[in-house]
Amino acid sequence: MSKIPLSPETQMLSFAYNSADHQGAVKCPLFQTSTFAFNSAAEGKAFFELAYGLREPSKGEEMGMIYSRVNNPNLEIIEQRLRLWDKGDACAFFSSGMAAISTMMFTFLRPGDILLFGSPVYGGTDHFIHHVLPQFGIRTLMFTSRDSEEDVLALLNAAYPGESPSFIYIETPGNPTNNLIDIEMCSRLARSFSQKGKQCLLAVDNTFLGPVFQRPLEHGADLVVYSATKFISGHSDLIAGACVGSSEVIAGVKAMRTFMGTMLDPHSSWLVMRSLETLKVRMETQAQSAFKVAEYVRSHPKVKDVHFLGFLKEDDPQKKIFDNQCLGTGSMVSFNIVGGEKQAFDFLDNLDHFKLAVSLGSTESLAEHPATMTHVDVSSEDREKLGIHPNLVRLSIGLENSDDLIEAIERAFDCVK
Ligand SMILES: Cc1ncc(COP(=O)(O)O)c(C=O)c1O
Repeated sequence: MSKIPLSPETQMLSFAYNSADHQGAVKCPLFQTSTFAFNSAAEGKAFFELAYGLREPSKGEEMGMIYSRVNNPNLEIIEQRLRLWDKGDACAFFSSGMAAISTMMFTFLRPGDILLFGSPVYGGTDHFIHHVLPQFGIRTLMFTSRDSEEDVLALLNAAYPGESPSFIYIETPGNPTNNLIDIEMCSRLARSFSQKGKQCLLAVDNTFLGPVFQRPLEHGADLVVYSATKFISGHSDLIAGACVGSSEVIAGVKAMRTFMGTMLDPHSSWLVMRSLETLKVRMETQAQSAFKVAEYVRSHPKVKDVHFLGFLKEDDPQKKIFDNQCLGTGSMVSFNIVGGEKQAFDFLDNLDHFKLAVSLGSTESLAEHPATMTHVDVSSEDREKLGIHPNLVRLSIGLENSDDLIEAIERAFDCVK
């Protein structure tokens, strides 16, 4: 046996599955079942005691399968595999990215608590924070990627003097502008807000770069959260979410998931298992193409600014954050077209190969207009502050040949009046 730990991409093909236990099936079968038969009533009793945490497991004892809202072999295998990428002890998969985010927040936030969050975030998350959490008495405070540690403390002091947040949530890179937030800075803040008996946790939405190009747990985050609909699944054929962290933190999240019923179903779990096998090659190839596409877009006279992680300048504070916490530039490119909404729409309506659709991280390239689509519900004041202008277009680069994409982009620009 090799002494070198196996790489995650190797583990994606086999970890937590043994063909010999399943009549030699090379691929893990689909366990399309809602419930599992116990060998005896005593075994059922033992599993339930562990599921509800009524006692500690005895040495070597493991909880068996009970019911697919609680556990299922397909679900458990993808949880075992994804955590390897993020180097977490445990993982929980959900029926969507929003299910992961909302279940996680309901696990750790209580009425009266303050949620400190970095912006921009995905439009659905923004809606949840601004319009759903306040209905449960949760107070919120926003900062942006431009704010330093001192700025964040000043904002907090102005909004809630003498009080500390209970939870910090950031999305980095932020959707749709690729703005970065310093994970280590947020981790320091979370530690400084933690009190005896009440820890302030830091959660990072790692959808845009992770897990291949960013590992927030290595920079002090307590939780990593994903829309697994995106790169992790990668084929635009299912909706899923995930959370990775320590065993203790994920145990709390899973307990909430069991009672909210927000787990991922067996068939989607099986599809995620297929997708994890190609995650690294997909993300790397897409990132290489995105670089070429972004360079072409940057050179076009009808483009004002390109928001791409490969173009950060040495004197930009964002570059320092990138060098410290990112392992690659990813495949999300957004840009401001010369003009406004009309010019952005002219471009989008004439773009071949790209599907005019929200979502991202799939094998096919996708294009959308954040101000009127994914981020339409963000207040116009925040949209202005965060750079989500009417002339902003977001591209997610897929697996097509980059020359074909560039040609399609050139033709679309020709149609912009
Ligand atoms: C960065 C990010 N986080 C979370 C979500 C929500 O995920 P889902 O659509 O899987 O619920 C999205 C969706 O676009 C996203 O882009």
